[in-house]
Amino acid sequence: MNLVAAVVVAFWAMLPAYVPNNAAVLFGGGRPIDGGRTWGGRRVLGDGKTWRGTVAGTATGVALALGLSALAPAASDAVGVSVPRFPLAAAVALSFGAMLGDVLASLLKRRSGRERGAAFPGLDQLDFVVVALVLAAVVAPSWFGDVFTLPVLAVVVVLTPLLHVGTNVLAYQLGLKDEPW
Ligand code: CTP
Ligand code: MG
Repeated sequence: MNLVAAVVVAFWAMLPAYVPNNAAVLFGGGRPIDGGRTWGGRRVLGDGKTWRGTVAGTATGVALALGLSALAPAASDAVGVSVPRFPLAAAVALSFGAMLGDVLASLLKRRSGRERGAAFPGLDQLDFVVVALVLAAVVAPSWFGDVFTLPVLAVVVVLTPLLHVGTNVLAYQLGLKDEPW
C-alpha cells in the first residue's frame, strides 16, 4: 500500500474515533460521571467528564460510522483507494473506545495531581486512539486486521497527534474549549 492510500484509509477508519471527543466538547456538560466523588482527596474524574458528553460523543461517532459505511463504495471509486465500511461492533468500539480512553486519561490525570484542564502531553493526544483501537481489535478482530495493516497503524500514530493538536487549537480559538489542548 502506498503512503497516500495509507493516509486515506487511516483518516477514514479513525474518523469515528476522532469525532466523539469534539462532539463531547460541543454537547457536554451537566452531571459529572463521578457524581462529585473524590478518591485520595481529589476528584475521581472531575467535572470535565459528563454523562451527556460521553453519550453524545459515542452516539455521534456511531452515527458518523454508519454514514461513512453507506458512502464507502462511492468514496472508494472517487478517490481510487478502497476505504472500509464499519460493522456496528466496530463503529461502537471506535466511538465508545475513544470516549473511554479520554475518561481513563482523566482518571490518571487526577491521580497524578493534575487539575481539570491541565495538559498531559502524550496522554492527551493518544489516550483515545489506544483504547479505541484495542476495543475494535477485541470486538471485530477480522475487520480490524483487514483495515488496520501495519502501514495504516503507523500513519494513525503519526497523524493523530497532529490532528488532535490542530483541532483543539481551532476549538480554543473559536471559544468552544477552555484550553488549546
Ligand atoms: N466533555 C464531556 N464529557 C466527556 C468529555 C468531555 O462533557 N466525556 C466536555 C466537558 O465540557 C469538558 C470538555 O468537553 O470540559 C473538554 O474535554 P476535555 O478536554 O477532555 O476535558 P477537561 O475539561 O480538559 O478535563 P480533563 O482535565 O479531565 O481532561
Ligand atoms: Mg482537557
